[in-house]
Amino acid sequence: MQIFGVDIGGSGIKGAPVDLDRGDLAQDRHKVLTPHPATPEGVVEGVREVVEHFGWTGPIGATFPGVIMDGTARTAANVDKSWIGTDIRGLISERVGGARVTVLNDADAAGVAEMHFGAGRGRTGTVITLTLGTGIGSAVFTGGHLVPNSELGHLELHGHDAEKKASSKAREDEDLTWEHWAHRVQKYLAHVEMLFSPELFIIGGGVSRKAHKFLPLIKGIEAEVVPAELQNNAGIVGAAMAARAAEQGA
Ligand code: BGC
Repeated sequence: MQIFGVDIGGSGIKGAPVDLDRGDLAQDRHKVLTPHPATPEGVVEGVREVVEHFGWTGPIGATFPGVIMDGTARTAANVDKSWIGTDIRGLISERVGGARVTVLNDADAAGVAEMHFGAGRGRTGTVITLTLGTGIGSAVFTGGHLVPNSELGHLELHGHDAEKKASSKAREDEDLTWEHWAHRVQKYLAHVEMLFSPELFIIGGGVSRKAHKFLPLIKGIEAEVVPAELQNNAGIVGAAMAARAAEQGA
């Protein structure tokens, strides 16, 4: 079975039909640059372009980097504030000719894919997936079920919003060594562990490709800490999985 997945991010809007049996893209993905400022109008036009590239007319799953309730954005930490209160589901559906659309948080989508097809396969305890990118996204699972919109990137750590200190962007912006940054990530994981006692942390985001540079430097965490397996396309796959669940009334 195929469903379309589209991942809305700060730099690009990427999508493709997803083969849900394999948990992988059915065709090479198409990407357009996210317009700046990244207003709802401009971004939804980008989504239309990506969907139309494949001539897709069926159901669509879409991710968004903020809290999503009932298809509507409730926060917008790293995107234009005009998203708050926007009915993203309705806007996309209208723009693509009325297809059914499911919208969920970007980290939740990546986590869902990772639990099903990646490093979280078969894990039934508390698992937390974290995407370290421009911000920090989180997805919390227990018994394989997602608790949506967990937003653990905004925990306060030493008086700061944690994502401002431990995201991948913070490492780049402050030109931190891997050691220095890993120390911050360790502090962050210890804090999350104290609150949730997970059995497993899965670390995703682009930087997880370089996991060998920082994961070995992280000490003193009781839970297993492993890199994500799905990398780039986890958000697209997870968005399509969420759309299928909605189709099936799950
Ligand atoms: C947002 C989250 C998002 C994460 C990763 C955070 O700033 O609040 O909703 O999942 O960034 O994009």
